Amino acid sequence: MLKNKQQYAQITAIGGYLPTQKRTNADLERLSDTSDEWIIKRTGIKERRILEDGLATSDMAVAAIQELCTSYQKKARDIDAILIATSSPDMPMPSTANIVCEKLQLSNVWAFDLNAACSGFLYALDMGAALVETGRYKNVVVVGADKISSFVDRTDRSTNILFGDGAGAVWLEPSPETGILDALLLSDGKGVDYLNIKGGGTQYPYDATDWNAEHRYLKQDGKVVFKKAVTAMSTACKELLQKNNLSIEDVHWLVAHQANKRIIDAVGKELGIEEQKALNNITYSGNTIAATIPLCIWEFKHQIKKGDLLLLTAFGAGFSWGASLLQWNI
Ligand code: COA
Repeated sequence: MLKNKQQYAQITAIGGYLPTQKRTNADLERLSDTSDEWIIKRTGIKERRILEDGLATSDMAVAAIQELCTSYQKKARDIDAILIATSSPDMPMPSTANIVCEKLQLSNVWAFDLNAACSGFLYALDMGAALVETGRYKNVVVVGADKISSFVDRTDRSTNILFGDGAGAVWLEPSPETGILDALLLSDGKGVDYLNIKGGGTQYPYDATDWNAEHRYLKQDGKVVFKKAVTAMSTACKELLQKNNLSIEDVHWLVAHQANKRIIDAVGKELGIEEQKALNNITYSGNTIAATIPLCIWEFKHQIKKGDLLLLTAFGAGFSWGASLLQWNI
């Protein structure tokens, strides 16, 4: 691999948070016409975590950053910038990142949210890396956090089986050697009707009329999303590898967005990667939207070795999708 940058952004710490409350397949059997057997066979998911009422996305982001700080002896007061990838912000304004700063008692930080649905973490990681590469920011924290349960109808079996809450965070710092190598990030607005939460924005504001109430929850056309996710993620990975003169054999770990175990398996198969190199933690946390990729890396961090090449890939509403390549430095 060619050294192609003067200064890299490298991940120097990682943290995560999953709420303690579980929503199991048995719970869903009580809430809707489904079965544990069907859910496991079609999605690979056994349970998801649900954040309690009264807490918000920012609370999970803060918990993930604090876990990171404790594990890697980092100090929140050293942070220069915080990017929160989320599609379930605490409120329309201010940004969840602002609220996170307040909860961490930080007042000198450039903080903002980025919404690219389930691709949000990869988008934010590239943005955060660019901030570090300019030399203007030395300690950038990138978080993927979603309390998506607030937008999932617990009784709708077409969505309740998949989604759960969580947050994952990484700390980026400059390095002359290696780190985040490259990324390919894309979007196509033709996907809007296939995966969305329409309510609560300016087109369908909440005003308690029936007309708007029907847009309150996440809706998807599962079959369309499934097919598009597999094609988009595997194509992005192939293009990114080719652009960097790498082959799938060079990759130590594939971390795909944890949408459905069958999607993860199909992407791995399409790329021709050995099964044990395709990480997954979907069974006990489900699809946590922008949090899946950092949470998955966090869970496997003791297996990933310094110098390993990671290929990350995501797909989400929009449609938005992409892939990132990085060398692990912890
Ligand atoms: N429990 C039991 N049966 C169910 C069910 C459920 N939760 N959901 C659907 N079914 C039934 C259907 O009614 C259908 O029955 P029929 O054959 O008698 O008509 C059958 O199971 C198959 O339904 P289908 O919708 O074709 O299932 P699927 O294999 O496509 O799985 C998803 C549904 C949602 C799990 C799958 O399409 C998926 O994961 N899509 C991607 C969604 C996603 O990743 N979204 C986020 C992207 S970031």
